[in-house]
Amino acid sequence: MNMTERSGNEAVFMGAAEKLVSGCHMTRQDFTELLSGYGDLRITEYLAQEAVRVRRQYYGTKVFTRGLIEFTNYCKNNCHYCGIRGGNRNAVRYRLTREEILECCQEGYKLGFRTFVLQGGEDPFYTDEKMADIVREIKSTFPDCALTLSIGEKSYESYRLLREAGADRYLLRHETADEAHYRLLHPEPMSLSVRKQCLYDLKALGYQVGAGMMVGSPGQTWETLAEDLMFLQKLQPQMVGMGPFIPHHDTCFAGERAGSVELTLYLLSIVRLLLPRVLLPATTALGTMDPRGREKGLAVGANVVMPNLSPIKNRKNYDLYDNKICTGDEAAECRMCLERRVASVGYELVTERGDYLWQET
Ligand code: 5AD
Ligand code: FES
Repeated sequence: MNMTERSGNEAVFMGAAEKLVSGCHMTRQDFTELLSGYGDLRITEYLAQEAVRVRRQYYGTKVFTRGLIEFTNYCKNNCHYCGIRGGNRNAVRYRLTREEILECCQEGYKLGFRTFVLQGGEDPFYTDEKMADIVREIKSTFPDCALTLSIGEKSYESYRLLREAGADRYLLRHETADEAHYRLLHPEPMSLSVRKQCLYDLKALGYQVGAGMMVGSPGQTWETLAEDLMFLQKLQPQMVGMGPFIPHHDTCFAGERAGSVELTLYLLSIVRLLLPRVLLPATTALGTMDPRGREKGLAVGANVVMPNLSPIKNRKNYDLYDNKICTGDEAAECRMCLERRVASVGYELVTERGDYLWQET
């Protein structure tokens, strides 16, 4: 996609932006018009300013923090963009033991984290029973903490088991809401319909649910992005994870161009306005593409950061994309570094669970 291409005319895209800001239901045409404003300074600033206003209205200057524990990089899937896809023979595989996971939580708790995110590849080693056991252990040891899972596609029954064990939230990016684009990014047997069903199941079970997509992934167009926004509007997730696509050297997309920071920022503002109370991270991928990427994300509507709590010895092996930041830094260092970064743009890193605001306040 040519990221600087603009077909829009100012009256048209400003009209769509005003519609978004006023909270009206958006049609595909509205989203297409909104996206046609990308690259225009006036709409970019308008959307960012309105996004920040809405974010302040609900969350003030608070930025929530999540301790990310990447507990396994084994994966049975083969997503074409991902460095830890099962078919990558060069990936150095690891699994954390239950004890190691708990140690990460202990350390995180001392540093003030009140949400832990257990993220991993789709690793059959961690059966539902094993996962439920770990979830129960974490929730009983840290009853004041929220637990988020990010372990891929599962059956309704499995999600139910994990929810009953105490998991509060679930991250499962949809990656793209366009069928053909989904097929380009994911080989068989993965399918967009299963992915979407998982998200609806998770919602039905009462999880706080996170969807999201990479920005600038190979094959992405303005049309597929409009479809992503249509899907987010329909799903109404509580969280949206969005970062630029970054090529990984051991994937078939090694030679592709990375996604743009500017477009990611533009979309962050749009998503904040589309889902006003959404929990929206300034992602590590954004920080990887631009040294001040996360700060820029916070300045256009993001309100969450997710530093890494995984043991240093495994960090560099959770290698989703090239040049990932923070692979050599102690959790405490990242925590302090982020505190400074968040403060530098006028916000405050807080140590609350940071749940979704279910009701208007
Ligand atoms: N570039 C950017 N993001 C990636 N992810 C996976 N591979 C890449 C990549 N090459 C994202 C996916 C996934 C999340 C855990 O990381 O969106 O859902
Ligand atoms: Fe990890 Fe800055 S957040 S070193």
